[in-house]
Amino acid sequence: MILWLAALAGLAAEPPTQPIPYSHKQHLALGLKCKDCHTQPDPGELMTLPATSRCMACHAGVKKDSPAIQKLAAFDRDKRPVPWVRVYQIPSYVFFSHQAHLESGTATCETCHGKVAERDRLAKEGDVSMGGCMSCHRANKASLDCTFCHEQR
Ligand code: HEC
Ligand code: HEC
Ligand code: HEC
Ligand code: HEC
Ligand code: HEC
Repeated sequence: MILWLAALAGLAAEPPTQPIPYSHKQHLALGLKCKDCHTQPDPGELMTLPATSRCMACHAGVKKDSPAIQKLAAFDRDKRPVPWVRVYQIPSYVFFSHQAHLESGTATCETCHGKVAERDRLAKEGDVSMGGCMSCHRANKASLDCTFCHEQR
């Protein structure tokens, strides 16, 4: 029953196999910050994923004989983005803004995405289902109106 509920909420997911075995744990231990790679361009809705040039700033030299880094370098050379398998994605009919949530002071990255800095591979740890959004809105007296998160029909 509990497992079934967890599956329904999209929790306890297995990490997807990524095209390149990038580790947040390994890179954050170097002292990098989230915003060094997730740049949050105006108006701040999206956090974005880094371009290969961001990686190659180090990997043009670091570990360039590793097969994983050679694969990364090939994407960079061909000017193709790495086809990362998305971990958190909500349908396009839902309004969501990172900026509004970070400014509200009710959430940090960890609240919605779990202990990213301790993970070699990311899996969906935070609950971004409608139920997950609603329970935090209820707890923080933010709106539960359908049109707060969805287009008026
Ligand atoms: C060196 C660059 C780099 C840094 C620093 C970095 N990330 Fe990432 N992040 C990535 C890459 C590359 C991916 C795509 C691969 C993956 O999912 O592991 C990613 C994916 C993610 C995702 C999943 C997005 C999705 O929907 O697929 C989240 C959430 C995330 N990062 C959060 C963070 C947080 C929080 C921090 C700071 C604690 C951070 N990242 C620091 C490079 C970085
Ligand atoms: C600030 C420099 C820096 C940046 C930026 C950076 N890395 Fe790294 N990366 C490192 C270092 C240092 C290591 C560890 C090398 C070692 O084990 O000696 C590493 C290790 C790796 C490894 C493991 C390689 C292996 O075979 O052991 C992968 C894969 C990797 N990085 C991918 C990425 C990707 C993808 C990005 C861009 C999203 C990125 N890195 C950005 C410095 C960086
Ligand atoms: C209130 C919950 C919440 C907080 C706080 C939050 N995120 Fe997210 N994040 C999401 C949701 C929901 C998505 C999926 C968005 C979509 O598909 O449009 C997402 C997607 C992402 C992505 C994928 C790229 C993108 O922009 O869609 C990255 C990277 C990411 N978040 C990083 C972060 C980082 C870094 C922080 C802290 C600075 C953070 N998030 C804080 C809920 C959150
Ligand atoms: C950690 C608690 C928390 C979570 C999780 C959360 N929200 Fe919110 N959300 C808030 C709060 C608090 C506000 C009110 C912010 C303010 O007063 O401006 C808000 C505001 C919003 C707004 C209005 C933003 C704006 O531009 O003014 C939208 C839309 C929204 N949330 C959608 C979502 C969706 C969709 C999800 C799930 C994917 C979600 N929220 C998850 C706490 C949360
Ligand atoms: C706080 C934000 C939020 C509010 C408020 C909200 N929703 Fe949603 N809704 C979501 C998110 C996020 C999803 C996408 C869930 C997913 O696909 O994982 C969603 C999905 C849906 C879906 C598609 C479900 C499916 O399984 O295909 C419907 C229908 C829906 N919402 C109706 C409503 C109605 C009706 C209300 C008002 C009672 C409402 N929503 C209020 C965030 C919200």
